Amino acid sequence: MVKSTAYRGPADELIGLSSCVTTLRGQILRLSEYDINVLLDGESGTGKELVARIIHQCSPRRNGPFVGVNCAAIHESLLESELFGHKAGAFTGAKEATVGFLRAASGGTILLDEVGDMSESLQSKLLRVLEERSVVPVGGTAPEAIDVRVIAATNKDLAQAVQQGTFRRDLYYRLNVVRLHIEPLRQRRDDIPGLVEHMVQRVAHALSVSAKSVSSAAMAALTAHDWPGNVRELGNVIQRAYVLGNGPVIEPEDLPDDLFAHMTERSHSPLPSLDEAVRRHVALALGASGGVRTQAAEMLGIGRKSLWRLMRQYDLR
Ligand SMILES: Nc1ncnc2c1ncn2[C@@H]1O[C@H](COP(=O)(O)OP(=O)(O)OP(=O)(O)O)[C@@H](O)[C@H]1O
Ligand SMILES: [Mg+2]
Repeated sequence: MVKSTAYRGPADELIGLSSCVTTLRGQILRLSEYDINVLLDGESGTGKELVARIIHQCSPRRNGPFVGVNCAAIHESLLESELFGHKAGAFTGAKEATVGFLRAASGGTILLDEVGDMSESLQSKLLRVLEERSVVPVGGTAPEAIDVRVIAATNKDLAQAVQQGTFRRDLYYRLNVVRLHIEPLRQRRDDIPGLVEHMVQRVAHALSVSAKSVSSAAMAALTAHDWPGNVRELGNVIQRAYVLGNGPVIEPEDLPDDLFAHMTERSHSPLPSLDEAVRRHVALALGASGGVRTQAAEMLGIGRKSLWRLMRQYDLR
């Protein structure tokens, strides 16, 4: 196979300067060229599918198909034939034969999303497919060879599922040749300003309108938010600001109330508590410095040790 080290472009679409994303970018470039299975884990909306697509784009398989299958969204009874294909007449309603996602991804990459939700019987079948590199379509007897790279993604703790006996240990080791963990956004806040800028451009492009800018007060609120829905939630908030907000600048009033909920929860004052203001101010400096701590400390007029203490106190990483 042709090596692909020179191909770096799409990795640039993975926005972020935090150590998590920087490490991830390096790992993607190193592992893409090898046909090894990869397990991606991270909370919902952290970018698992994006990373899987970039791995595919950086790999020698990039001219082949990329097929994503959400194992949680397809009913268990259908998932087997969706993955392995079926012969005509294999079951009621199966008028024509299908190739299934695994063969449809031949020459390319398959992303098995939410793999932790697969039933036990399907886990065994998938294990056999990965070991033998062939599938037996539902209703068929002869194995058909497959040539795919498998990337699995999960927002569950699969190691824990193995401990609890709900996920097969042998399948776990088979999928987990390399594990890439994507941290939740609240643990890499220095990525937020860059992601906000990216989403501002992306939404403007999608809506065919000119790009807005973001006021520093709005950016402070965006940087301080905990983002339970991670980057997806951030994208939705920016989209909402375009659709509901007026004017060329995104201001705090264009952002949803829950970004300010912690302020009102604690007091009915229109001002944030001093504690909250300090937290946001530190988050803002970290964001504005792109995570360079010496620079953030300088902006705040404090030493690096004091900054480190504040970061620990407010869980800002
Ligand atoms: N680092 C990043 N840079 C640019 N865009 C990102 C980044 N991380 C996530 N996104 C964007 O955020 C959205 C959600 O990402 P994605 O669908 O890959 O998340 P996911 O982890 O697969 O979520 P789920 O577990 O809910 O399926 C996408 O629009 C993706 O392009
Ligand atoms: Mg996904």
